[in-house]
Amino acid sequence: MITAIVGTQWGDEGKGRICHYEAQNASMVIRCAGGNNAGHTVVYEGEKYALHLLPSSIINPYVLSVIGTGTVIDPKALIEEIESLRKKGVAITSDNLVISNRAHVIMDIHIILDKVMETIRENEKIGTTGKGIGPAYSDKASRINIRMCDLVGDYESLKKKISLIVKTHKAFLESVGCMTYHNKNVVKKLADEYYEYGKKLAEFVKDTKPIIYKCKKEGGNIIMEGAQSTFLDIDQGSYPDVTSSSCIASGCCSGAGIGITQVNEVIGVMKAYTSRVGEGPFPTEQKNEIGNRIRFLGNEYGTTTGRPRRCGWLDLVMISDAVELNGCTALALNHLDTIGKFDEIKVCCGYNYHGEFIQYVPVDHENCKPCYETLKGGWNTEGATTLEEIGEDAVKFVKLIEEYTETPVVYIGIGPDASQIIIR
Ligand code: GDP
Ligand code: IMO
Ligand code: MG
Repeated sequence: MITAIVGTQWGDEGKGRICHYEAQNASMVIRCAGGNNAGHTVVYEGEKYALHLLPSSIINPYVLSVIGTGTVIDPKALIEEIESLRKKGVAITSDNLVISNRAHVIMDIHIILDKVMETIRENEKIGTTGKGIGPAYSDKASRINIRMCDLVGDYESLKKKISLIVKTHKAFLESVGCMTYHNKNVVKKLADEYYEYGKKLAEFVKDTKPIIYKCKKEGGNIIMEGAQSTFLDIDQGSYPDVTSSSCIASGCCSGAGIGITQVNEVIGVMKAYTSRVGEGPFPTEQKNEIGNRIRFLGNEYGTTTGRPRRCGWLDLVMISDAVELNGCTALALNHLDTIGKFDEIKVCCGYNYHGEFIQYVPVDHENCKPCYETLKGGWNTEGATTLEEIGEDAVKFVKLIEEYTETPVVYIGIGPDASQIIIR
């Protein structure tokens, strides 16, 4: 059984907690794309884990966690993440963690370029996480980047490859006054530094293909953990206010190395409202007391950057668009507790778009005016084990989602803790 878990909004829908739950019955969880721009929160047995590049299964020692081929890895940040989890008592060994030798590397030069590019954009900033994601994927597409296999391979060959990256970006960086790469010895220094990271990570770096093939042959359950989200997808998202990877289910397949016909389930994760970090269109955004209240009640602050998240009402047009783009077979709905604290809840069920009523996300999303349905809220989810226990109004809210998207809601989050979930 192969399941993809993907975001249906602009990220932070609670993919991490759903993935951690699903991982209980999995042999392998693969992070497919993105890098440490992601922040996946798991609250388990009283401990809160903020995972960035490590799959959300890492706290479960019985699951093989794989950092897949489609990811971009900042080795320095990954070593820190591993060490900080070990300090919390999480066992991370070559028995439960594998890093694809084909995954690409984020170097400091990419982080600098990320920040420089944002500065150059002046009033057109994307609001990136500043982790070097875009420049690393650009170098990957330009076919000059280094991969994890280079960090654990021949030193001289690594040096040669780093030299090409430095040569490519040096003149541009100097033109904007950044002289970091001016030094003659910089290539050797970088090669030494990154070779050392390679040594530290070497035990985990493997060819993921035979490992995944074997797991499939033995009938193991495999979870593909998506990062970022449908509307941050480089192709299908609100370009240019997107990330630089393919975040939808088909991107999970290419990132993990799994054939699309082998996927049995695609779970789209959503919140009972919408949030966004960074710039870009957001038709149901509430830049008012409602938005502030959602942020406060849902604790909507970025897991990676700590930035306050922009908040607004649930946009079902986006969810149904995401269901189509990902081929979702089921939905996981988080924060039913948070939205239930509002006596009156609005849900966007269509857009007024240049005078026309539409129910898909167009290329100029910023020109969409939401058309709302109003529902009764005011429910209490405390201790509930079924949706029906929460009451008729909560049932109506979930039914509207299911009917609009023609997709069943199989998980309902009623709190951040792993135990605060209703399974249907
Ligand atoms: P991800 O990036 O999709 O994994 O999501 P994040 O972890 O960045 O953001 C989701 C936030 O919502 C985290 O702080 C979670 O602990 C929290 N969360 C997830 N599900 C629920 C829920 O059902 N109720 C509440 N109150 N919090 C939730
Ligand atoms: P998870 O996996 C929310 C956003 C950034 C910015 C844009 C581009 O936790 O849902 P990047 O650094 O990727 O070049 O930034 O994408 N972004 C996220 N927003 N959740 C995430 O990940 C995100 N990863 C990137 O805020 O707007
Ligand atoms: Mg997140």
